[in-house]
Amino acid sequence: MSEQVIDQVGEYYDDIGELVELVGGNLHVGYWESDEDRAPFLEAMQRLTFEVGARLGLERGQHLLDVGCGVGEPAVRLAQRYAVAITGITVSHWQVAESARRVIAAGLRGRVITRYADAADQPFPDASFDAALAFDSLPSAQDKSRWLREVHRVLRPGGRFVFTEYPRTAELTDGERAILAANTIHTPPATLAESTALAETAGFDVVAAEDWSERVRRTYDEFFAALTAQGPALAEEYGAERIAMFTTGITTMFSLCRAKIGYHVLTCVKPA
Ligand SMILES: C[S@@+](CC[C@H](N)C(=O)[O-])C[C@H]1O[C@@H](n2cnc3c(N)ncnc32)[C@H](O)[C@@H]1O
Repeated sequence: MSEQVIDQVGEYYDDIGELVELVGGNLHVGYWESDEDRAPFLEAMQRLTFEVGARLGLERGQHLLDVGCGVGEPAVRLAQRYAVAITGITVSHWQVAESARRVIAAGLRGRVITRYADAADQPFPDASFDAALAFDSLPSAQDKSRWLREVHRVLRPGGRFVFTEYPRTAELTDGERAILAANTIHTPPATLAESTALAETAGFDVVAAEDWSERVRRTYDEFFAALTAQGPALAEEYGAERIAMFTTGITTMFSLCRAKIGYHVLTCVKPA
């Protein structure tokens, strides 16, 4: 990606900064089995981490690459559950520092490492990792093919790669595309077939392509409820102006997502 785009994405996440506490450090959606599933928001987000993680086929001692790792919350959970080592990359300097703090707090120093690196131009030798994950990060890519080719390169033959996508579930106006782009979401695919074809062109076999749009849609209402409940405390801690700006931006973005953005999960293998 161009330096300018990386800087924009990095600044976007640097600006969110400590507000990740609102969602327990999970910069991804939640997962509910059905309308009857009453799991609280935080639990639903952690559940998604494990649903996605289960598709990686991780074995003890393996090395996982987490492309677009946020503040390392998913990496910490997966390292604890599967006893693997994880290297995460992000283009937010704030996230690198916060991730290190969380890793130490979780007692995982040395097992989970986060570094500043661009997914489209990764600083790793070929076949460095046993598995790879791009959890709600590929939507930020301007050139998705390039990200996928880079993941393919750094993954060992036979290794698994799971990525998630934010597809459009209805036509988007130019204005709506601009709102998504301002929130680092570029070119939402229309179908699972579209993302499958991209992954196959990068050299992967796609072994499962799942549409979880209805399982995650409650995320947005849950987020608004959390923001309403915690907004005054956040304003007290981080300043009323910052919280008002954040609330305005995220309300516009998440109202759009609730109406027109779904969720896809693709499980891939690099052929041996
Ligand atoms: C929506 S957050 C998801 C974070 C994390 N996977 C999670 O589930 O909590 C998107 C992440 O992708 C990262 N990202 C976006 N563009 C990137 C790039 N070019 N290279 C590396 N990371 C990138 C962002 O810095 C951010 O950490």
